[in-house]
Amino acid sequence: MQILLVVLIVLHVLTGVFWAGSTFVLARTGGANAERLAFPQFGAAIATMLMGIAVWALALRTVPPIPALHVLGAGAICAVLAAVVQALALPTVRQLRAHNPDEIAPRRRIAIHQRIAGVLLMITVVGMALWGHI
Ligand code: HEM
Repeated sequence: MQILLVVLIVLHVLTGVFWAGSTFVLARTGGANAERLAFPQFGAAIATMLMGIAVWALALRTVPPIPALHVLGAGAICAVLAAVVQALALPTVRQLRAHNPDEIAPRRRIAIHQRIAGVLLMITVVGMALWGHI
């Protein structure tokens, strides 16, 4: 059980780093390469959330609702919101993949979604990193 938990936490952190990192890159570059990054990014988002839920179920489900857990929970809620915001831009990414002649408007739209998700994921990372020390 302990080994499973360690593996899940490692995979959770690795996929979370790719999710948050690619979000910051797409936000900062105005959506450059979104057609290559957005779908793997969304896959990483799903994997991060599923493994986070599994870690919580295995290790923290029975812990009483102490304030530190609220910090972790707030981080998790921000992560879910970030995934929703990014999912809403996936049809626009599909348009870009279809070699739409007008690239500027869809790329700007994608960048706005990534910036909003970036702020939410910043809160997530801070919550995940700090909750155990509160
Ligand atoms: C729905 C989304 C998420 C859920 C439910 C979730 C859940 C969890 C849980 C339960 C832990 C505690 C592990 C433990 O100490 O026993 C954890 C740790 C962690 N999570 Fe998440 N997480 C989510 C999203 C993210 C995202 C997006 C990142 C982005 C980088 C992330 C990064 C981390 C890190 C770095 C830790 C290790 C913190 C530490 O113990 O020092 N998580 N997560």
